[in-house]
Amino acid sequence: MKPITLGVLGSGSGSNFQALLDAIRDDRLNATVAIVLSDQPDAGILDRARQQGVPHGIIDCAGHTTRFPDKEQIRVACLMKEAGVDLVCLAGFMRLVKKPLLDAFPGKILNIHPSLLPSFPGLEAWRQALEAGVRETGCTVHIVDAGVDTGPVVMQERVVIEPGDTPASLHARIQEAEHRLYPAAVSLLARSHE
Ligand code: GRF
Repeated sequence: MKPITLGVLGSGSGSNFQALLDAIRDDRLNATVAIVLSDQPDAGILDRARQQGVPHGIIDCAGHTTRFPDKEQIRVACLMKEAGVDLVCLAGFMRLVKKPLLDAFPGKILNIHPSLLPSFPGLEAWRQALEAGVRETGCTVHIVDAGVDTGPVVMQERVVIEPGDTPASLHARIQEAEHRLYPAAVSLLARSHE
């Protein structure tokens, strides 16, 4: 079967991108990563792409700290199309994707979020869970729509909150779950794509 072609957008260390690459290498995911783009020129995700020979580039948000300008979303959509991307994976991408990119890949943009959505959308979801005093949280892979961490859920994994957990310890355990969940969710969609 033909592998699904992924494009990845990230702003941080890229550990979820790495989890996708590891799953491809270990034959747990029938995919290729055609392109990685980051809005942060110094992001670890770009170092990982460079070291592992994955084509990569920088998203230029023209000095805006949080906005993702429409013009740049159109450029990103073009780069993804030129690379033959079937599915766009947000992996720690810290800007909101809006109409230009959503329209170019309808229902084909995925995100991983560190909570059991719809609980705790937005930033530092692990800290929100601790502060709310819940006993479990987790992570969610969902299809991206125009909202903030809304959109249909593809898969979730639970993480129990232990007594004495700190934001850092809880976030680390959620990330371990993310690294299992994201390749599994992409693989599920890849199988329905074939
Ligand atoms: C992850 O915790 C993910 O849930 C959130 O951003 C973080 C990205 O981490 N959206 P990494 O860059 O994949 O290591």
